[in-house]
Parts: sequence; structure tokens; C-alpha cells
Amino acid sequence: MRILSGIQPSGSMHIGNYLGAVRQWVASQNPDAFYCIVDLHALTLEIEPQKLREQTVDYLASLLAAGLDPELCTLFIQSQVPYHAQMSWLLECVATYGELSRMTQFKEKASRQHGYRVGLLTYPVLMAGDILLYSAQQVPVGDDQRQHLELTREIAERFNNRYGSVFTVPEGVQPAASSRVMDLQDPSRKMSKSLASPMGTLYLFDEPSEIDKKIKKAVTDTDNEVRFDWDAKPGLSNLLEMYASFSGESPVEVAERYSRYGDLKKDLSELVVTSLAPIRQRYRELRDDEAALQALAARGAAKASEVAGPLYERVAAAMGLLAGR
Ligand code: AMP
Ligand code: TRP
Repeated sequence: MRILSGIQPSGSMHIGNYLGAVRQWVASQNPDAFYCIVDLHALTLEIEPQKLREQTVDYLASLLAAGLDPELCTLFIQSQVPYHAQMSWLLECVATYGELSRMTQFKEKASRQHGYRVGLLTYPVLMAGDILLYSAQQVPVGDDQRQHLELTREIAERFNNRYGSVFTVPEGVQPAASSRVMDLQDPSRKMSKSLASPMGTLYLFDEPSEIDKKIKKAVTDTDNEVRFDWDAKPGLSNLLEMYASFSGESPVEVAERYSRYGDLKKDLSELVVTSLAPIRQRYRELRDDEAALQALAARGAAKASEVAGPLYERVAAAMGLLAGR
């Protein structure tokens, strides 16, 4: 099964990224799976160059620590495969301004700043290129990427109709639970890297004491009945889903075992800390050997280019470009 997915190296990886996306990547890795750190996407918002450089390497180590095996799948850095940026231009000439300006994520991010970058608008086209360059059949992502996936399908179909059948039309895949982990302090909004909410965001590499503090202080409600009900009890339901994702049960099963919020929070905190402990440990070892990480990225980029290059040439030729001839 051909799979592609990506993650931005902005901010630190949080539990939403892990449960919504990365854990699925690990479960579905195979020789036909491609996972990329999308550093070009990270340029759409202000980021210090030195920070971007460091975080890109942090993410390589984090993804390996979380269980990606570069012998089994291809792990690479988006900007090291130049076809992504090239493909993005071609697809900008397939997508329309109207459809891009209607994207929820764009509207949200653009409304928070003056003079947003054009890249913030065209971001989903770059993402579509990431996916289509690898003829991906499946794209494991969290719920917030559904709309971008729909747009990718739309672009692929439009291209195929206009220029001939080159693209595979991909499908998004979401995990059974925790496809949308909410902020612990404000369960009406998703846990996010771009909004500073330190107490609301559980980072993968938070100290155990911080994880404990954040979970114990998570906003719930006052009626003290443990029940899985997103509408009436979003804060509690978020915790129940998180618990279920780690324990492999359903949120309803978890809810049945508890009668007090405090007990649930205490057990959840232990479960999260013990589940993440091996990842923390491996991360420290891997992050120390930067030369090995760089070499691994170079191998990944070479493998990715073997697939992306020929596809890019087909797209360019189909559109009438003499590129590559
Ligand atoms: P990003 O950090 O925006 O690059 O997202 C990387 C992956 O994590 C994407 O597949 C997102 O859908 C997923 N993701 C991000 N935030 C959350 C969240 N709060 N809950 C579940 N999945 C998420
Ligand atoms: N836009 C995605 C996000 O913010 C990241 C991403 C970029 C991606 N390219 C992708 C995800 C390709 C899946 C496939 O989460």
C-alpha cells in the first residue's frame, strides 16, 4: 500500500500529533510508505532560521524514537527533494484562488495576523504535491487535515480530466480514537503547536511531573459524573479518548470503570508517562548523534527522489513543459 504523510517541524511534537498521526504512521509503515518532515510548510509562519534547522533534526530523532524504522519505510526532509517545491508551482496553476481562500485552516491562521504570507494561502497546494508526487493511496492524518485531503483529491481529479490520467486519487485515514485531541485548558479548540497554550498542550517530551500537572489541571466540568459525551462533557471526553488511545479500549469502556474525575486523571497521567517513557529514552540517544541523523535524511531524500522525480517529469510533460527533455 503506497502511503505518504507529513509533519511540520514547527514547535515541539505534542500528544495530538502522536495519537492523531505519528502512531498510525508507525503502525502502517512498509517499504511503500513515505513520511516527510515538511520544513517548507513551516516557513508559512514566522520561524527563526536556527530554530527551524534544529527542530528539523529534533523531528527526525522524534519520529525514529516513536518507532519509524528507516529500513522499513522512507523518512525524509521535504526541502531535500526539490520536486516538492517544483510540483507546487504546477499545481498552483491547477488549483483556484477561490478554493484556497475557503480553507478553514487558512481563514483561521490568516485572521490572527496582519499581512500574512502568500504561502499560508497556497500551503494546501504544496501539501497536495507532497501526496500526489508519490501516487499515495492512503494518507494517515488527524481530523484537521480532512479538508486539505478533499482539496488534494479535487486537484488530482481536475488534473487527470484536463491533462490525462497521471495522479492516483488518495484517501485520508484517521485513527479510531484521538483523531482530534483537544486543548486541555480549552476543550473547544484542538491541541495545537501554533497557539501558545503551555498548560493546554501535552508535549511528547514533557517531564513526567509536567504531564502529571497538566492532566490534573485539565478543564472538565462540575457535575462529576464520568460519562463519554462530547457535547455535554468535552473536557472529560477528551481525557477518556486519550486514555482509550493508549490502553486500546473504547472511551465508553474506560468511562464505565470510573466514578470520579480525580481517579481517572491520576490513572491517565500514569498511563501517558509510562507509554511515553521508552520514546523519551530512545529520543535522547538518537538526538545525540546528529551526523547519523543527517546521513539518514540524505538516504531518505535519495529514495524519495527516485519515486518523485519520474512522476514530476510526467506531470510537467503532460502540461506541455519541455522540462527534463
Ligand atoms: P502538524 O503539526 O500541523 O504538521 O500536524 C501533523 C499531524 O498531526 C497531522 O496529521 C495533523 O492532522 C495531526 N494533528 C495535529 N494536531 C492534532 C490534534 N490536536 N489531534 C489529532 N491530530 C493532530
Ligand atoms: N498540512 C499538514 C499539517 O499541518 C502537514 C502536511 C504537509 C501533510 N504535507 C502533507 C500531511 C502531506 C499529510 C500529507 O498537519
